[in-house]
Amino acid sequence: MRLNDKVAIVTGGANGIGRKTVHRFAAEGAKVVIADFNEEEGQKVVQEVLDQSGTALYVKVDVANHESTQNMVQTTLNRFGKIDILINNAGITSDGLLTKLTEESWQKVINVNLTGVFNCTKAVIPSMLENGSGRIINTSSVSGVYGNFGQTNYAAAKAGVLGMTRTWAKELGGKGITVNAVAPGFCDTSMTQQVPEKVIQKIIQQIPLKRLGKPEDIANAYLYLASDEASYVNGTVLHVDGGIVM
Ligand code: NAI
Repeated sequence: MRLNDKVAIVTGGANGIGRKTVHRFAAEGAKVVIADFNEEEGQKVVQEVLDQSGTALYVKVDVANHESTQNMVQTTLNRFGKIDILINNAGITSDGLLTKLTEESWQKVINVNLTGVFNCTKAVIPSMLENGSGRIINTSSVSGVYGNFGQTNYAAAKAGVLGMTRTWAKELGGKGITVNAVAPGFCDTSMTQQVPEKVIQKIIQQIPLKRLGKPEDIANAYLYLASDEASYVNGTVLHVDGGIVM
């Protein structure tokens, strides 16, 4: 059990990569909080974990809302008494080429993918500082590393996540808290199911491993960074993308 008795919050834990992560962490002994605004799916994930004798709690949260993230932390502390791991995984897209991208789409993606990471981390930090330990794992993207057609807002937010990761790694490392990022490549989830099949096939041709990522590929990277094995890893970006970025 690599996460025995650890308390982990997984934002966006109701679907896709986050959902796989919840299962992976629970199987490794963690008490997992599914922090997501999709209540129906979130409650289903709790039941799935309970059915496998794990421990899980659903908390409804909008990561873009500061107060809501404060409530997420309070609810977690009331139930489990501490927070060891925060996986900042919730994310959305609202694509459009720069010439067509609306201010609304820009703001929506920045609010969730960038401000959301700030809000959740700011909310958990006081309790991690009190414990003198913690793991923050942020989710960037291949788009935040090398840009992507139609993703001005998303690439900006995901590049910003890398800036926050490195800054917090410096600010918090001396307090026993490590901060790292995972940069997933194109993965088979509802996020990419919106992309036309022709485009997906073109992307696959550019990936040295010739396949999309699976949610478990990213969950495994989160698990490594959350585990004791990564205790000397801080401020790094783990690229899990089949080699599309080198
Ligand atoms: P998904 O769409 O399958 O799941 C995202 C989850 O986040 C959903 O459960 C949704 O309800 C939740 N969520 C969205 N906005 C929220 C908010 N404001 N507050 C709380 N919860 C919210 O997405 P997927 O593919 O699992 O993505 C997970 C992370 O990985 C995201 O940060 C995404 O940007 C990143 N990523 C995904 C890639 C892919 O190809 N699927 C590639 C690179 C990065």
